[in-house]
Amino acid sequence: MTAAYTWNDHTYDVVVVGAGGSGLRAALGCAQAGLKTACVTKVFPTRSHTVAAQGGISASLGNMGQDDWRWHMYDTVKGADWLGDQDAIEYMVRAAPAAVYELEHWGVPFSRTEEGKIYQRAFGGMTKNYGEASIQRTCAAADRTGHAMLHTLYGQSLKNAVDFFIEYFALDLIMEDGACRGVTALKLDDGSLHRFRAQRVILATGGYGRAYFSATSAHTCTGDGGGMALRAGLPLQDMEFVQFHPTGIYGSGCLITEGARGEGGYLTNSKGERFMERYAPTVKDLASRDVVSRAMTMEIREGRGVGAQNDHIHLHLDHLDPKILHQRLPGISESAKIFAGVDLTKEPIPVLPTVHYNMGGIPTNYHGEVLTKAGDDPDAIVPGLMAVGEAACVSVHGANRLGSNSLIDLVVFGRAAGLRCGEKLEANANQRDLPKTAGDDHLARLDKFRNAKGGTSTAKLRATMQKAMQEDCAVFRTGETLQSGVKRIAEVLSGVSDISIQDRGMIWNTDLIETLEFDNLIVQAAVTVNSAANREESRGAHAREDFPNRNDDTWMKHTLSWIDDTGAVKLDYRPVHAYTMSTDVEYIKPKPRVY
Ligand code: FUM
Repeated sequence: MTAAYTWNDHTYDVVVVGAGGSGLRAALGCAQAGLKTACVTKVFPTRSHTVAAQGGISASLGNMGQDDWRWHMYDTVKGADWLGDQDAIEYMVRAAPAAVYELEHWGVPFSRTEEGKIYQRAFGGMTKNYGEASIQRTCAAADRTGHAMLHTLYGQSLKNAVDFFIEYFALDLIMEDGACRGVTALKLDDGSLHRFRAQRVILATGGYGRAYFSATSAHTCTGDGGGMALRAGLPLQDMEFVQFHPTGIYGSGCLITEGARGEGGYLTNSKGERFMERYAPTVKDLASRDVVSRAMTMEIREGRGVGAQNDHIHLHLDHLDPKILHQRLPGISESAKIFAGVDLTKEPIPVLPTVHYNMGGIPTNYHGEVLTKAGDDPDAIVPGLMAVGEAACVSVHGANRLGSNSLIDLVVFGRAAGLRCGEKLEANANQRDLPKTAGDDHLARLDKFRNAKGGTSTAKLRATMQKAMQEDCAVFRTGETLQSGVKRIAEVLSGVSDISIQDRGMIWNTDLIETLEFDNLIVQAAVTVNSAANREESRGAHAREDFPNRNDDTWMKHTLSWIDDTGAVKLDYRPVHAYTMSTDVEYIKPKPRVY
């Protein structure tokens, strides 16, 4: 081991990394199954990014009129532009109502209908009767649904004796002969180093939105699990699919929930036109996010943007009853005031499509087990490793996620991972000793960055990466912009060897932590832009102007991407699961894109 560093060793049945909605739900499930469970998290659990989720969680409860899980399945498959795995989608939509009632019984303070049922609002792409008209399927706790869920799940996890390791930054996976045996972490407040041995590690580390300059994601969304998986030689899947949320506040990028349009809000251009009527005549402002973000970008490009620079769009809520706004959208009323200086009862909010969600991530099956391609087997399980939530690609969102399908993904697959661990693991089973050198390479990486004396600050490299991703891997892409992005990101990646760190300490060394986070981001930026340059078609959130059509003959497949120590990216493919989980529903065949 690198001199001057010593490990504190721990043994658990399961170690969950991350304490957002999926991490807490998985940890809770494992603990309920009688497994000794740790949750390692770099932020206090209730500060995880799930806290920022606003509009709600989808489930076909049918509280606002008839609904059916098959309709939810159809919408999700269609929203995903047919790249989703339909066995996983069936699993999610069928489990959704029970998962929401479970949250209700644990104490999530959902908004209520007159009869006292859980209130549900309209969200983009959610329809009745296979696309006939919009439906109210998104269960809401005002516009603070994620906040309510996170506090409830944290309370339940404590009640079920999950051991929390709070403000511990996960460094890397301990791998032995292709299997995961544990994970290492740095405790931020005292600089101590920790080595966790476990029968299973569950990565629940969220997305990597901060690879971009403007994102609704928290600054902590640095894809730490994806970085660890890539360093362990594992592939990530479908990284070219990055979702832009139509309504980030112009300038700050803060989220204005899609629930705003679900409650009757609408978008206008500089001529005051409700332009979504032209792009999506049936569902209009409630089309799926990829469609709305592209329409807004087209309006701006064609000179119909609002403001002095004609570079954004207006979101109107000023026609709605202020009482409804106060009751159902109190959070965004505040955000609009603080971040745009707008009283939304009187004026429109200036908005712009902003990076919001990564459809890609660590490939898994619907139990949460991590998959890799081994020889001819595209679905080979990586022993000991699982992933859930935005860090994972299960893949229920395919090429584009529907709003409110993220919160349900978190709890359904967090629960599934807990069930799988309960089924497969024996509590307190003997675990072999870790290899003597376990974690040495993690310390070497830590030490290298801690003592880096190059000429470029982490902040400068990060800003260069974020600008390149924002400009060259955006809502619309071409071969030319993507090749430029590939080159710019490769330059940033090679710049890592010249990185400079000022703080050499071990205690609250934010310079070091931001560098480790940046190191996680840059490899994911590289596989994202390479995967996007490679996919020569348009599908979901991946809109290629030089290949405007979806091409199922060639591209109905998941992209797998690896990156090695030299920065070389390797790409391969996995078949999309063109089958369902049960015989209750048939595979939904691809249809042309009609909105
Ligand atoms: O608009 C929103 O409230 C975001 C929801 C989501 O991304 O699922």
